[in-house]
Amino acid sequence: MTDTVTPSPAAFGTRSSKQLIRAEAPVLAHNYHPLPVVVARAEGTWVEDVEGRRYLDMLAGYSALNFGHRHPALIEAAHRQLDELTLTSRAFHHDRLAGFAERLTALTGLDMVLPMNTGAEAVESAVKVARKWAYEVKGVAPDRATIVVADGNFHGRTTTIVSFSTDGTARAGFGPFTPGFRIVPYNDLAALESAVDETTAAVLIEPVQGEAGVVIPDDGYLTGVRELTRRTGCLFIADEIQSGLGRTGRTLAVDHEGVVPDMLLLGKALGGGIVPVSAVVARREVLSVLGPGEHGSTFGGNPLAAVIGSAVLDLLATGEFQRRAAELGEVLDRGLAALVGAGVTGYRARGLWAGVDIDPAIGTGREISERLLAEGVLVKDTHGSTVRLAPPLTITEEELGSALTALAKVLA
Ligand SMILES: Cc1ncc(COP(=O)(O)O)c(C=O)c1O
Repeated sequence: MTDTVTPSPAAFGTRSSKQLIRAEAPVLAHNYHPLPVVVARAEGTWVEDVEGRRYLDMLAGYSALNFGHRHPALIEAAHRQLDELTLTSRAFHHDRLAGFAERLTALTGLDMVLPMNTGAEAVESAVKVARKWAYEVKGVAPDRATIVVADGNFHGRTTTIVSFSTDGTARAGFGPFTPGFRIVPYNDLAALESAVDETTAAVLIEPVQGEAGVVIPDDGYLTGVRELTRRTGCLFIADEIQSGLGRTGRTLAVDHEGVVPDMLLLGKALGGGIVPVSAVVARREVLSVLGPGEHGSTFGGNPLAAVIGSAVLDLLATGEFQRRAAELGEVLDRGLAALVGAGVTGYRARGLWAGVDIDPAIGTGREISERLLAEGVLVKDTHGSTVRLAPPLTITEEELGSALTALAKVLA
């Protein structure tokens, strides 16, 4: 114990951005490198820092805020549920879970739901389910099941998940790793085919690789993965934790090819930017391998999460957000195309989601993000030279235009 005086709660609320950033360093783990902005409140596409400066949010919590900050329908649903019931654990039934699961199955065309909390938990759960399915249904020899994943993947941060990451920073110092994974190049059906054998439980991929810099596979890749997994008798697991729920201009990124996976992983936006909500949605034959006591989570499917998740799915059922993402995605695409050769070396975009490669002569992704911050626009860099754009799907054409103008200005 040190002899310092603990500031009163009021004092916490009166500190400047600079003071708050300085105060974090000794008491917070340094596993992030945030941009120097201290957000205090937000609404829709806009956030405000502790000094009252406003910023256009072009990151949307890595797609956890697809419906913007504090969407009125989501906040209202949350408020109502806070007054009724927040947590039971799965030791008991509660009156909100069936409706949530029914909405998820209706939206996805799949049969059963395993509710979890974070994205990483959904991925972990899918790995366990796929292995159990391989032993009990496919007949793979005990402890021999393999899962094929793609180079450049990002599926989360747990020990098992970083075991099949190809990002050295995400792995260094965290071994020993979980065995049973094979890594193949993304967007390469021939490589996938040669990695699949009688031990393969599943192929796990992101239909668009978000953290890799919004890497979009060739048309036909997802159809090919579906066809290959069906033909060879293994599961297709689509991680749509970042790509799903309207982001790409369709409800799911796999919808662009009309493909239905065996297991679909959802998260981020499913929690409406309010609470962590994730889910494994799957065919009955697959999720039926789980019996009582074999897997679970204290908070997974809790009443508050179920109500917010249901409200999110009701918003998506209107089709408005998918339509906005598709239409404004064309505006984004045209705006970025105009910047190629003017500070941008290339970009990849689908719906309201883009990875923009910055000319190293102009600056790093981090430097461009800092310059945009000074212009009142929030973005985040990835892999050194790429800037990721993923605004709330509620953004207006005018707001999107002003973000593109700011990008052009900082690149000039
Ligand atoms: C595709 C994908 N899967 C899984 C995750 C992990 O989600 P969480 O951070 O909620 O654990 C992420 C997070 O960025 C992701 O993009």
